[in-house]
Amino acid sequence: MHTSLSEKFGIEYPVFGFTPSEHVAAAISRAGGLGVLGCVRFNDPEELEAVLSWMDENTDGKPYGVDIVMPAKVPTEGTSVDLESLIPAEHRAFVDRTLAELGVPPLDSGAEHATGVLGWLHSVARSHVDVALNHRIALIANALGSPPKDVIDQAHEKGVPVAALAGAVEHARRHVANGVDIVIAQGYEAGGHTGEIASMVLIPEIVDAIGDSAAVLAAGGIGSGRQVAAALSLGAAGVWMGSYWLTTSEYKLGSASSEGPSAIQRALLGATSADTVRSRIYSGKPARLLKTKWTDAWSKPDAPAPLPMPLQNLLVSEAHQRIAASENPDVVAMPVGQIVGRMNEIRPVAEVMDELVEGFDSAVSRLDTLR
Ligand SMILES: Cc1cc2nc3c(=O)[nH]c(=O)nc-3n(C[C@H](O)[C@H](O)[C@H](O)COP(=O)(O)O)c2cc1C
Repeated sequence: MHTSLSEKFGIEYPVFGFTPSEHVAAAISRAGGLGVLGCVRFNDPEELEAVLSWMDENTDGKPYGVDIVMPAKVPTEGTSVDLESLIPAEHRAFVDRTLAELGVPPLDSGAEHATGVLGWLHSVARSHVDVALNHRIALIANALGSPPKDVIDQAHEKGVPVAALAGAVEHARRHVANGVDIVIAQGYEAGGHTGEIASMVLIPEIVDAIGDSAAVLAAGGIGSGRQVAAALSLGAAGVWMGSYWLTTSEYKLGSASSEGPSAIQRALLGATSADTVRSRIYSGKPARLLKTKWTDAWSKPDAPAPLPMPLQNLLVSEAHQRIAASENPDVVAMPVGQIVGRMNEIRPVAEVMDELVEGFDSAVSRLDTLR
């Protein structure tokens, strides 16, 4: 499994793993891939600073990256506008009513209320870049557009390549024109924010459109060595996986106890590839989520239309906190892709990586016999 990108980053396998968990990201890098830590959840740059110091010490000197979220269309910044006042009362009433109907208890008295995700405001994302560039990061990736030109320049000055996700050919062309080094071609089946074109169609389209001007990572629906082999056959120089790491034993985010699978993981383990939905209810932009009673409630005729980013996440942030605390797998609010149908056991990252490599080898050997 050697490609131009495994060579460029000095990694054993061109397997790039996006994850919001530093424990998973470090394990991916230690296992020979490139762990990429999602920074959007860090509202406080000091917390990110501490986590990246931990990453520096727990990756055995292997490279790792960070992922930031700077939407090309800048959402209203919190500094000049009271965002909370822009949320209609009808929406708040719907959330309260739905949580009551689903039996989600209020937070314990004294519990700190979540402020919502602020990491996709440019001011906060810029603080992520400033912090990250003082650590030994090997990559900055950005979701929802190219990062601004000065951020790309800032990374390049430190010798750090920049990647950006693309859900359509025109996004990929724009990234290349803006100076992005690696395009992540992410198909419809992916977890999180995603476009409307399936990986099978999108990956070769983007590879052909951008030629040698940037390397392409394939994303969306990858969870086996056969799928890695397919992605490389389509012209990608590596894969970018997000959902599959959520059922690794190192993933503990959103879990009340360190023992056994969390409610989120139990919900994921039981889901089939048909149990996801693409909806604006998480962030205000279309994102693929696990289909649960919470997502079902938002698709009923009495549900209001989701608000634009960043208001929708502010609206549901306390609901997400209450849902997480309730530990009920039927009412989970969680991004995940269609590959969830293959996520059927909790395993360490290293075991997942071994299986990807073995599966890739046997897929390639099998193809060899077909010539
Ligand atoms: C729980 C979760 C959170 C995600 N959050 C982000 C994010 O903050 N930034 C980003 O660039 N991509 C994010 N993504 C998308 C992943 O980077 C990746 O492109 C996607 O998961 C690939 O498709 P797959 O889910 O089929 O592996 C997220 C995906 C998941 C499952």
